[in-house]
Amino acid sequence: MQQIRAAITAVNAYVPEYVLSNAELEKMVDTNDEWIVSRTGIKERRILKGKGLGTSDMAVPAVEGLLKKRGIAAEEIDLIIFCTTTPDMPFPASANILADKIGAINAWGFDLNAACSGFIYGLTTGSQFIESGKHQKVLVVGGDKMSSIINYEDRATCIIFGDGCGAVLLEPNTEGLGIQDAILKSDGSGGQYLNMKAGGSANPASHETVDAKEHYAYQEGQAVFKFAVTNMADVAAEIMERNQLTADDVAWLVPHQANKRIIDATANRMGVGPEKVMVNIEQYGNTTNGTIPLCLNDWESKLKKGDTLILAAFGGGFTWGSVYLKWAY
Ligand code: UT7
Repeated sequence: MQQIRAAITAVNAYVPEYVLSNAELEKMVDTNDEWIVSRTGIKERRILKGKGLGTSDMAVPAVEGLLKKRGIAAEEIDLIIFCTTTPDMPFPASANILADKIGAINAWGFDLNAACSGFIYGLTTGSQFIESGKHQKVLVVGGDKMSSIINYEDRATCIIFGDGCGAVLLEPNTEGLGIQDAILKSDGSGGQYLNMKAGGSANPASHETVDAKEHYAYQEGQAVFKFAVTNMADVAAEIMERNQLTADDVAWLVPHQANKRIIDATANRMGVGPEKVMVNIEQYGNTTNGTIPLCLNDWESKLKKGDTLILAAFGGGFTWGSVYLKWAY
């Protein structure tokens, strides 16, 4: 029997309309366009406006567009893995909320939280259900409404993050295409450098936690940068080595979009030229779980069947990893 691999058979994404430019941020905090562009590569990011709207409200248009592209109904989905750090609420899971909103009545689902590495963790998890032969259609959604946990008085974090959501469909492939390998890692001792202190069971919401601004993302930028730049490059190089891939074999590097300097370091380490690197950080900033599917969607028309893609991410946890896949359509 031929080996079943999990292949991406459709991708789609959604970003909210509102554009938060560097010029607008200059009016909110002590920063400037030159600093932001030279240190991060970001020019603007999207923000989801509207009372009561959450991450699932970006997932709905992303997934509905995906189903249309693939020509299937929501009822056909077996499983939804919703990768997010900003679920609509602590429970029920955003996967359940999304299933209800789109009419995926035959799907079970769960949320997966691995911060900025969430999408590659989710892709790898979803692939197991396809490879086992137990599921035929697995939806992996990656998205965040980062604006809901950002302090727009903190110049160290508010310039980086944005809102957005993407989704891919995984289906069985017996032609040797799809996900070939994955290396996933974590180191919980890094949690001190990037976290949100309150709102969980250890520090539930209270007047004190609100006053202490503990419901916002906290990041020690330089410390995170140091780990990110080495680990994301190392893991991408490791997956290439393990699969005997040279830079010539790689059609595209699909990196998490946290900082253009981290992306460049990863590409350099792999020996891959800038023409093969998907970068849209300029337009969307760091959408956390959304960055990789947003890239895949923006580059979809350029991708060819059989192309070798290396996905790589690093994020809070710390979590990081890389996925090697062959594009299937
Ligand atoms: O996606 C999840 C993982 N996250 C990441 O991978 C993010 C990793 N970290 C980073 O991308 C970078 O550390 C940042 C973009 C967050 C910050 O860049 P940096 O080059 O590490 O800056 P820094 O924190 O070392 O600050 C350098 C200087 C400081 O001033 P002094 O002390 O040298 O006078 C900061 O106060 O820049 C100042 N600064 C700013 N200046 C203008 C910090 N933020 C800003 C700002 N505008 N927004």
